[in-house]
Amino acid sequence: MPRSLLGIEELERSEIEQILERTKAFQPHGGQTFAKVNTCTGMLVVNAFFENSTRTRSSFEIAAKRLGADTLSITASGSSVSKGESLVDTLNTLVAMRPSAIVMRHKASGAPHFLSRHLSTPIVNAGDGTHEHPTQALLDARTILDRCGKLEGLRVAIIGDIQHSRVARSNVHLLSKFGAEIVLCGPPSLLPREMASIANGVTLEYDMRRAVRGTDVIMMLRVQLERIHEPPMQAGEYFRFYGLRQEHIELAHPDVIVMHPGPMNRGQEISSEVADSQRSMILSQVENGVSVRMAVLERVLLQ
Ligand code: CP
Repeated sequence: MPRSLLGIEELERSEIEQILERTKAFQPHGGQTFAKVNTCTGMLVVNAFFENSTRTRSSFEIAAKRLGADTLSITASGSSVSKGESLVDTLNTLVAMRPSAIVMRHKASGAPHFLSRHLSTPIVNAGDGTHEHPTQALLDARTILDRCGKLEGLRVAIIGDIQHSRVARSNVHLLSKFGAEIVLCGPPSLLPREMASIANGVTLEYDMRRAVRGTDVIMMLRVQLERIHEPPMQAGEYFRFYGLRQEHIELAHPDVIVMHPGPMNRGQEISSEVADSQRSMILSQVENGVSVRMAVLERVLLQ
């Protein structure tokens, strides 16, 4: 079986630790850029993005190039998917060109899992519907570890549209494997009660001030309007109840860090004052995205 990376749920804690440890070798220090290591020279990574992306797609491409691999990018609008070709036919066409791995984002939950059962090429899940975004959780974990030194025992509040968030699901799986205390917070329509049973150590909270009290990490999520027919409330009202502002930072642990996977909507789920503050790890997350994806691709390509 090819060594795909489909989700955090199916990874052992030791496998996650290995990826996070290997990531350190690729992190730039001081004014350096990402090291060019050439461990994957001659290999081809296909980035097949059937949903839009800025951070994930560009960082996978940089990561593959830094490892010495060649890259090819396919998008839904620029490919024959827009002419009605099925996903399986598109992927089989790409596989016939002998890539070493396929990085795939798709709006359907489970799409990479389905394809991995039919293809001989390893697949890396770059986000499937509302299900998982494993490399996002890995880069988030690397960012927390760099700043806080541990995951175990930390209180992490994940706030926003939990229901539609693959980032939330992957983070819950990862953080629970490492013994973090996870508080999920959002309006009732975006935080169904069954979310409490995803993993151990999860509680639900509908009041944002209670969610952030004493917390070590605040992770904000946008409302995914592209997956919702009716917004839960007007934007201004949403910001009043679930938008992160300086008054929330003052309720949290004195060393709290603020995270957001992006894309962020300033003035909706987060204020510019907080997003641009010393507490914000948002650009560190982006930077760690390249190093984590180098470690993930190397693991998949050098199996
Ligand atoms: N965090 C994330 O997945 O961002 P993109 O949609 O820009 O890739």
